[in-house]
Amino acid sequence: MCGIIGYTGSENVREVLLDALELLEYRGYDSSGIAVKERGTEEIKVCKCAGRVGDLRAICELQRALTGCGIGHTRWATHGGVSDKNAHPHQIGKVTLVHNGIIENYRELIEEYHLDGLKSETDSEVAAALVDRFYEGDPETAIKKAVRKLKGTFALVVLFADQGDAIYCTRNVSPIVATLCDEGAMLASDLTALCRFTNRYFVVPEYHILKLTETELTLTDFDGNRVEPEYQTADWELNSAGKNGYPFYMEKEIMEQPRAIEDTMTNRINSGMPDFTADGVPDTLFTDCDRICIIACGTAMHAGLVAQALVKSILHMHIDVEMASEFMYSDPVIDERTLVIAVSQSGETIDTLEAVKYAKRRGAKCLAVINVKGSSIARESDYVLYTNAGPEIAVASTKAYTTQLAVFYLIVARMAHSRGVFSAEETQSFVRELQRVPQAMQKVLERRHEIHVVARKLLEAKDLFMIGRGLDHSTLLEGSLKMKEVSYIHSEAYASGELKHGPIALITQDTPVVASVTQEKLVSKELSNIKEVKSRGADVVIFIKETLAGNLEEEYSVFRLPAMRDEFMVMPASVALQLLAYYVSSDKGFDVDKPRNLAKVVTVE
Ligand code: G6P
Repeated sequence: MCGIIGYTGSENVREVLLDALELLEYRGYDSSGIAVKERGTEEIKVCKCAGRVGDLRAICELQRALTGCGIGHTRWATHGGVSDKNAHPHQIGKVTLVHNGIIENYRELIEEYHLDGLKSETDSEVAAALVDRFYEGDPETAIKKAVRKLKGTFALVVLFADQGDAIYCTRNVSPIVATLCDEGAMLASDLTALCRFTNRYFVVPEYHILKLTETELTLTDFDGNRVEPEYQTADWELNSAGKNGYPFYMEKEIMEQPRAIEDTMTNRINSGMPDFTADGVPDTLFTDCDRICIIACGTAMHAGLVAQALVKSILHMHIDVEMASEFMYSDPVIDERTLVIAVSQSGETIDTLEAVKYAKRRGAKCLAVINVKGSSIARESDYVLYTNAGPEIAVASTKAYTTQLAVFYLIVARMAHSRGVFSAEETQSFVRELQRVPQAMQKVLERRHEIHVVARKLLEAKDLFMIGRGLDHSTLLEGSLKMKEVSYIHSEAYASGELKHGPIALITQDTPVVASVTQEKLVSKELSNIKEVKSRGADVVIFIKETLAGNLEEEYSVFRLPAMRDEFMVMPASVALQLLAYYVSSDKGFDVDKPRNLAKVVTVE
């Protein structure tokens, strides 16, 4: 889950590393550190501390600017607490190393190789010690020998004191991308950190050695054969990972959604019909299956739950949504006639990746819905539909979620047509409504100050409930996750009808309730459930489709959502709920983009 950067080139190394770490901080932010080696010297200076990259920047200011090479790391602690000594880089002998992943057999290695005198409690320092133990002047041999002893997942980036401005790297599972551009050679855990320089990059293959120097980049396999890097071009704009004047990435990313949805639909609608030709996804994928299984974690799983409701009501097919972390241990029903859809913003979530591998072993075809091009899950899957949301930096996912939904609307429409459930006309009408989504979202965004006013009513809450039925319930599961993540208010999304079977006992005047009412056939039932909590003293905030029920404003705080077909109300409602969580968090003075204990990319099981 940690962030890694390596750079060798003509720019000021310290600044390149620190700027990149700030962009990678969403991968983990309990400690950070850099190691810098000035050109022509053998001294590698390490600067690291528990705390944010901002804290690191403050202590690094003492070091003078220089050119040469360097590596950096931002940590999400697994082995060993959050402390200066456990922060990376780790330095032993001639070796200075950063690591992402988990070395499972680190205890055995300490014993077997008598690795005494380690300074930290981390598994990572053991990897550094092992590379140093094997180092006799040939970096590649030392790294290969060490890697052959390691069990677990790792991206290792290493500087050797006596190897000029070269940086070495190898990996298993944990991702590393790299590039050579005008300013030098660089590698990172993900593309976000390289975006400032270039959008041309390649994914370092597993069990290979990459050597970077200022002007050259050499990739070899473990048998020493040269391998040509497979470059790809991201369609992210350079500098798209900036805040664009917004105080937080989360706000910027919420505001970007109309555009992101447009980008997701681009090249996928042809004569009004959904079309995956450019993605290389054949119709047979949708026709040659009896059931669907969606696998994902967190917000991506919530997108899957919306898809499940759509598939059931439109396609009348059997569909399961599985938490990736539970999937393999729950005897899933998967076979050659199951279409597995893996959903992931990062494409690196280890549980989702492992679940995909498992499903493929069972013979299922796997379609991935992914934001980050070339990521591990994308590569592991048979087919990929990219969400084109651009870089998402805030830990709490917003535009990735709604673009995942947009892809699901397209999948459902294409599937309904190819399976003969929708006529061409019905398909086109469904797609036309999808094309109205950016405009509906924009209307919510333009009235965001109204949501800010409502948010102020929730600032003192310790607990709150979110209630709704059907698709409203699916939407609220995500709305509630957003609230928990960024505001630290304990929030639970409940199917309104289920509330009386226990949780209503918790409703008091101190427990606000947020309700979503967007489904015409459920309005009267939802309003009755709202009355029930109101009668027990709860303050209720209602997000309601503008054309439904009048005269609520006297009793409740009401935000009227732009009207769409019921199936699409998830989209404007989600934007409103994202804004609600955002304003609660920012008004409470929290670091909205980096909620405590979380990381954006979860690469440990
Ligand atoms: C973490 C992030 C969430 C995300 C989940 C799945 O928990 O904080 O925002 O939804 O991982 O990540 P993925 O990259 O697979 O969508």
